[in-house]
Amino acid sequence: MQLIVTGGAGFIGSGFIRWALAAHPDVRILNLDKLTYAGNLENLASIENDPRYTFVRADICDVDAVNDAFEAAPPDAVVHFAAESHVDRSILSPAAAVDTNVRGTFVLLEAARRRNGGRFVHVSTDEVYGSLEAPIEADESFPLRPSSPYSASKAASDLIALSYVKTFGLDVVVTRAANNYGPYQFPEKLIPLMIANALEGEPLPVYGDGRQVRDWLHVDDHCRAIWAVLETGRTGGIYNISADEPLANIDIVTRILAILGADESLIRHVTDRPGHDRRYAISSETIRRETGWAPRHSIEEGLSETVAWYRANQEWVRRVRSGGYTEYYDRNYGRRAGDAESGVTGDRAGVRSR
Ligand code: NAD
Ligand code: DAU
Repeated sequence: MQLIVTGGAGFIGSGFIRWALAAHPDVRILNLDKLTYAGNLENLASIENDPRYTFVRADICDVDAVNDAFEAAPPDAVVHFAAESHVDRSILSPAAAVDTNVRGTFVLLEAARRRNGGRFVHVSTDEVYGSLEAPIEADESFPLRPSSPYSASKAASDLIALSYVKTFGLDVVVTRAANNYGPYQFPEKLIPLMIANALEGEPLPVYGDGRQVRDWLHVDDHCRAIWAVLETGRTGGIYNISADEPLANIDIVTRILAILGADESLIRHVTDRPGHDRRYAISSETIRRETGWAPRHSIEEGLSETVAWYRANQEWVRRVRSGGYTEYYDRNYGRRAGDAESGVTGDRAGVRSR
């Protein structure tokens, strides 16, 4: 089976490529990735010399480059991960999220329909349902109520992808996963950022009261779910993916500190994210019933294993935090460095410069 994987140098895409090549001897993969700040070929070092693997550096918005890739490796299926994936960056600079997530997805869909690209797995997110009051859980028919430029751009791309099923008969499936965690996640997201800061004794910036709830899914469980949908999902089907592990952010942070044996005095409550969704919750009954998929990692074991990985790979963290990371950190945290509880502002809150 020939796959085109987009965004394969990122966190989940690289996990998917490593896993698919190990689990499926007959698979060949062309990885098409622009290598933005989030793309890192180091994540693929273990498979870079595998003869079944090819890398092409290209932007999914570049029609010619995408068509060339489809010509070089006519795919039996496309697994589309490439995205601007961070909510905070989409708030600071929404244009990149709209370009890549909406227009880039459209360019890929066009290539797939004009060149018989086979099955198209569009990797999306539970954020498209927006914030939900407990005890509501969204199933796949739930209305889309995205809050951020990121989640709105993902919802838009879901709808464009699904329109290609009805209008052009393209074999599209959409997955909507909960918050992922695990090795190789860029340390701008909650779990790796808190682990990396705690390891260096730096402040841990918790937005608002920290009682926002996210549902945690190990990246390996996500990759197996995507493969299950790739193989047996219904054309036009939407599949929520969750391990049913909801936790408040502050509880994740205190668990990380406990695993590391670090002090809770590192925690700083800072100004909240604009439009911050309070709670995500999805039902993954459909994928479990239709494909037999089930998660294998609990958050207890998965979080300990993830902390251990970051502890053992601090050089990787230092390298990905070099370059533009400090500038991003100052832009994002400098402006919200106010302490939500004490009213301390600016550098005095201690989260501005790493
Ligand atoms: P990531 O930010 O770690 O990686 C994104 C990858 O896409 C990078 O390798 C980057 O270089 C590449 N990329 C970005 N713009 C590109 C472009 N224009 N052309 C080609 N490549 C480009 O993201 P991730 O966390 O691995 O997320 C992957 C996908 O899964 C995204 O579509 C995201 O919306 C979705 N998702 C993520 C999560 C999560 O918790 N991380 C949960 C559910 C769904
Ligand atoms: O739900 C799936 C989504 O999960 C994916 O679609 C996104 O690509 C992925 O980034 C993630 O989005 P979130 O916004 O939920 O993830 P993030 O790690 O940025 O934040 C998780 C929670 O932690 C959220 O409530 C905001 C909070 N947070 C985050 C950071 C980075 C903090 O309190 N402090 C922080 O410094």
